[in-house]
Amino acid sequence: MELRTAKLLLYSALVVAVCRSQEDWTAQCSSSCKCRWISGKKTAECIRQNLTQIPSSLSPEIQNFDLTGNRITHLMHDSFSRVHLVNLQKLVLRKCEIESIHTDAFNGLKIVIEIDLSANNIRTLYPGTFEETQRLRVLLLNENKLKVLENGLFRDLVYLQKVMLSNNELERIEEKTFRNLPGLRLLTLDGNNLSVLKVQSFETLPKLGSLELHNNPWNCNCRLKRFRDWTIERKLYTKPTTCQQPAILAGKMWDEIGSDEFACRPEIFTIGPSVRIEAGKGNVTFWCRAAGIPRPQLSWVHRSKTLSNHTRRHNGESYVLRSSHEWLNLTIPDVTLSDKGDYICLAKSPGGNTEKNVTLTIAGDALSGKDSIISLPLALGLGVTALLLLAVTVSLCVCYCRRRRTRHDEKSLEAASMEHHGLGEQEKSLITTINPVVKPPRRYEAPSVTSHGTEMTELNRTLLDNDSVFGQYTAYITKQCVARC
Ligand SMILES: *[C@@H]1O[C@H](CO)[C@@H](O)[C@H](O)[C@H]1NC(C)=O
Ligand SMILES: *[C@@H]1O[C@H](CO)[C@@H](O)[C@H](O)[C@H]1NC(C)=O
Ligand SMILES: *[C@@H]1O[C@H](CO)[C@@H](O)[C@H](O)[C@H]1NC(C)=O
Ligand SMILES: *[C@@H]1O[C@H](CO)[C@@H](O)[C@H](O)[C@H]1NC(C)=O
Ligand SMILES: *[C@@H]1O[C@H](CO)[C@@H](O)[C@H](O)[C@H]1NC(C)=O
Ligand SMILES: *[C@@H]1O[C@H](CO)[C@@H](O)[C@H](O)[C@H]1NC(C)=O
Repeated sequence: MELRTAKLLLYSALVVAVCRSQEDWTAQCSSSCKCRWISGKKTAECIRQNLTQIPSSLSPEIQNFDLTGNRITHLMHDSFSRVHLVNLQKLVLRKCEIESIHTDAFNGLKIVIEIDLSANNIRTLYPGTFEETQRLRVLLLNENKLKVLENGLFRDLVYLQKVMLSNNELERIEEKTFRNLPGLRLLTLDGNNLSVLKVQSFETLPKLGSLELHNNPWNCNCRLKRFRDWTIERKLYTKPTTCQQPAILAGKMWDEIGSDEFACRPEIFTIGPSVRIEAGKGNVTFWCRAAGIPRPQLSWVHRSKTLSNHTRRHNGESYVLRSSHEWLNLTIPDVTLSDKGDYICLAKSPGGNTEKNVTLTIAGDALSGKDSIISLPLALGLGVTALLLLAVTVSLCVCYCRRRRTRHDEKSLEAASMEHHGLGEQEKSLITTINPVVKPPRRYEAPSVTSHGTEMTELNRTLLDNDSVFGQYTAYITKQCVARC
């Protein structure tokens, strides 16, 4: 009898306790939320309530927490542990206008399984954000503004199975973004701004079975080649993943293009040397080194002709081409005048063509030699100098003669007037005879007035010698001037 009463008492106490506790977690609900059982979980729904903070009065027993459609722009550190919500298993923060998430925002959520952060304005996620959420299986980050996924962002989450990153602005995923994620099966990266990815970012994911890549501006060149090959080998490639660049591959599916077409324009690293040699004075060797993915075909081209060991030259000899690894060297034995000109090293690959050239100059060849040609600026300079010198000389001469004449005047007026007349004539003739020199000719032509003077043979030199020529010329003019005055 006593036992029965005791049992009954215990039972009623238990019932009361259960009821009390059930009431507790629902009664403790915030005014903007609904707290009820959903699918066997204690759920708090606070949907579209214009909340700007995480409600603080909810029961710590809440397991599923749905905050869809509020305005929580910044998730501070300890956002949930601060309000004692440490038993969350599912956290929905969809459309909450979230812009930033503190590295420690999810601290304390040790048993959370799913976090939904989709359709927010998140621009950056810092490594360490998911350090405490060790039980995380599903992470939804689609429709945000993420640009970069940094090294170490997702690491050591051994239960993680699904990460959705569709429709962000991702341009770059670092090589160690995903590390030690033995269970990751599904990753979506479609609808981003990716043009290239590296295999290294993904090859450490043993269980990866689904990788969404479509709707990105993929640049199908040599930098994407390894990743493309890997996705096809691992059967991760799915249509409709297409190339956007280069133009010739735009719109093509990755698996419809050969691996070699994922190519880059080759690069010519060294070419040389430009040579100046006398005809008949030996052999000339030009070298060229180029590389690229895929490896380019190298050739030497001279006057639009591709050269080979069998190409005949004017003197009947042929060329010698030696190639090894990235090199193609061209030897021209016994160079002759007709070998002069540009030699082009051409590197061809599906990624494009690159060319560079060297020049073979034959010494003593009037047309290609440079010594005999005076450049335009030099010629102009010389012309101007000549003009100036002449002007000075002439004015000096005139001055000198005037003075002499004045002295004469004092002695005899009549004689002076006569001499004046004569001098004027002389001045004029001097000026006119000098004038032809003003034109800057290549070769110095002696003025006619000097044709009888012995010094003038000295002047028949090139203008390159201008200093001594002008010096002598000035001296000559002065002499003539003095003599005639
Ligand atoms: C939230 O704010 C909008 C506009 O300010 C208002 O129309 C709406 O009624 C608010 N909702 C609640 C639940 O307060
Ligand atoms: C995509 O990335 C390129 C640089 O790679 C950038 O110029 C462009 O603005 C980006 N587009 C968007 C929508 O972010
Ligand atoms: C051209 O000839 C040289 C030596 O005579 C030889 O080493 C080289 O392999 C030849 N090149 C080609 C492309 O046949
Ligand atoms: C070509 O010339 C370069 C530079 O002299 C040399 O290093 C290279 O070994 C040469 N290659 C061949 C195949 O002769
Ligand atoms: C020039 O090349 C020819 C043929 O390759 C060779 O026989 C000769 O020894 C070379 N001469 C010099 C100076 O290297
Ligand atoms: C050689 O290269 C120069 C520039 O490096 C270029 O101006 C010239 O046109 C080239 N010659 C030929 C024949 O391609």
